Amino acid sequence: MLRQALLVASRSGGARRVVRTAPFTGDVVRRFVAGETLDDAARVTGELTAEGLLVTLDVLGEDTHDKGRAEANVRHYVELLERLGAAALGTRAEVSVKLSAIGRTLDDDYALENARLICEAARSAGTTVTLDMEEHTTVDSTLRIVHELRRDFPDVGAVIQSYLRRAEEHCAELAYEGSRVRLCKGAYRAPTAVAFNDKEEIDRSYVRCMKVLMAGKGYPMIATHDPRLIDIAGALATLNDRDADSFEYQMLYGIRPQEQRRLAAQGAQVRVYVAYGREWYEFFMRRMAERPANLRFFMRSLVGR
Ligand code: FDA
Repeated sequence: MLRQALLVASRSGGARRVVRTAPFTGDVVRRFVAGETLDDAARVTGELTAEGLLVTLDVLGEDTHDKGRAEANVRHYVELLERLGAAALGTRAEVSVKLSAIGRTLDDDYALENARLICEAARSAGTTVTLDMEEHTTVDSTLRIVHELRRDFPDVGAVIQSYLRRAEEHCAELAYEGSRVRLCKGAYRAPTAVAFNDKEEIDRSYVRCMKVLMAGKGYPMIATHDPRLIDIAGALATLNDRDADSFEYQMLYGIRPQEQRRLAAQGAQVRVYVAYGREWYEFFMRRMAERPANLRFFMRSLVGR
């Protein structure tokens, strides 16, 4: 119930205004959002990579409804990628892109062309792009765009959400040589006709998807903070004779940082998803929806205690 309410609030303009103007939200937001500027992103990327972690950077600004903003987001990604290239960080830091931030709401093909510009900039910087997965209504369009982009940029990453009933089928289709696939549980609202609602069912689906990806020929990216699933991923990697560089773990910036470092110290590849920018509201509210403890911390900050 609470999760659903927070996910509804994540789409509410009124709630956004209250939260953004409330005092003391800054520190709480900074637990999950690296900052508002390119300099903040560059600083955090430098710190994380110096510790042996990999990074994927998300320029916040989803759900864009006009071309001006979509194109500004594309330019920001290109500038970010130039900065990563100049700092020779291309092998350690990539970018994550939401198609809704670069014009999908206006037109699929327009978003595809914008994504192409970002992929070209990523190639020049010696790095890769992963297309985040958003609402269930956009899954087919996102996968179609991934397939289109992979004709020219085979290293474009796809994302599969295990809460969707079709997740395992999509993993089987994507488990081919060179295919980078991030597996997550899914962070949006979705009806039971298309998605599992029960946590145990979502976790069981996650395990089935991992089995397919780990046994396949692609490059699995195991995006979860769930200790049980992380253990199972490790066991499946061993079972399938996978080397440490043939898959990676992924976690969000600010969540289980010690676990990120523990896995990296054991020789695993660990990528931290670093979101930054002024449009942090939706991303932040999804993090609140995932964990009541985060919400209590946030509410205390709103009332200034
Ligand atoms: P879940 O939220 O069920 O938590 C499982 C367990 O993890 C908890 O019981 C606890 O033990 C531990 N844990 C979780 N949060 C913790 C915290 N704050 N502190 C300590 N322990 C904690 N979603 C999407 O729809 N599209 C996308 O493209 C992406 N991309 C993405 C990239 C990356 C790198 C990550 C890590 C996640 C995403 N997600 C996503 C979000 C994802 O779908 C999901 O909502 C969150 O990762 C939370 O799910 P968990 O797998 O962590 O499990």
